[in-house]
Amino acid sequence: MPIIKAALLGLGTVGAGVYEVIRNQQEQLKELVGAEVQVVAVLIQDTDKEREVEKDVLVTNNIQEILAIPDLDVIFESIVGAEPTNRYLDEAIEYGCHIITANKEMFAKHGEALLEKALENDVQIGFEATVAAGVPVIRTIQQQLQLNKIGRVQALLNGTSNFILTEMRKKQLPFAKVLKTAQSLGFAEADPTNDVEGIDAFYKIMILSQLIYGEQPEWNTVELKGIASVSEDKIYHSDGRYKHIAELEKVGDRIQATVRPIIVDEQHPLYSVEGVDNAVVLETSLAGAIMIQGPGAGSKPTASAMLEDFIHIFQDSKAAVLS
Ligand SMILES: NC(=O)c1ccc[n+]([C@@H]2O[C@H](COP(=O)([O-])OP(=O)(O)OC[C@H]3O[C@@H](n4cnc5c(N)ncnc54)[C@H](OP(=O)(O)O)[C@@H]3O)[C@@H](O)[C@H]2O)c1
Repeated sequence: MPIIKAALLGLGTVGAGVYEVIRNQQEQLKELVGAEVQVVAVLIQDTDKEREVEKDVLVTNNIQEILAIPDLDVIFESIVGAEPTNRYLDEAIEYGCHIITANKEMFAKHGEALLEKALENDVQIGFEATVAAGVPVIRTIQQQLQLNKIGRVQALLNGTSNFILTEMRKKQLPFAKVLKTAQSLGFAEADPTNDVEGIDAFYKIMILSQLIYGEQPEWNTVELKGIASVSEDKIYHSDGRYKHIAELEKVGDRIQATVRPIIVDEQHPLYSVEGVDNAVVLETSLAGAIMIQGPGAGSKPTASAMLEDFIHIFQDSKAAVLS
């Protein structure tokens, strides 16, 4: 049977999930892509940490060792931050690898250039996991709504913020206490800045803007507010519910985007989306308003999005891989 050689950049929450799914669902993957999927290398930062990978997997902190492997077919990238990731992926595309990424900061900043480069080099980039993890937002837009014009997008794109606002309101608890609970449950990072300041949701709505309108608004024109500054009293006593909503709309030639906490009433489609869930409402020209909801973070949901991208790419290029 042919072999697809894969490398993982990052072996944290997401990377370990991808590794586990590839190992546990090897038989299904073989059926779907007609080849055995072998993880041959892993890029990490700390070479002293114990890694739960097979002995024959190269574990390195040097990207050049990975790009020196002959016939590498695909890279699953789940490291943190825009650089040096962007540089690594740029080189990997030149090498001729397909890329599947979960890294929203990197993709919001460099996705357009990487996609262009991928086209020139005849490889594909899967980025479903960058927005709402396992919730299939990207592919729904790319494949299921091709004839539709998407007007407005309204979305809950940060599970941590939604969890905190939900818990504060339901249990009338202060922000700091609920944040601690979120951290202890693994819903928030040790440094929660990107989540509670709205930066994570901002990157995701920029990726959606690029996908839907082919461009992003000037970043400094986007109103960006996180949940940390909302008064506890308002969250406890408002008529309606505070939701941290990222919104996107093209008005004339101008793309307008906002990321901010607002109060919504019972009629609003995002009113009942509670806890860590993400949800995206797409107002479409033919199909009407469509809402997609589900877990927007976590090891398995994110790995799910990345492996679905993988299947899509390799089913597409099955003939090429098998030849
Ligand atoms: N966690 C989620 O639910 C989720 C969901 C969707 C998207 N994402 C995105 O996926 C990415 C990974 O998230 P995560 O939660 O898996 O992070 P994580 O648990 O902190 O893991 C990050 C991994 O990347 C490695 N790494 C970081 N910087 C590196 C560098 N410069 N060179 C080589 N390796 C490097 C780390 O190495 P060490 O192991 O040596 O520290 C670690 O293995 C992020 O971009 C995040 O935004 C995460």
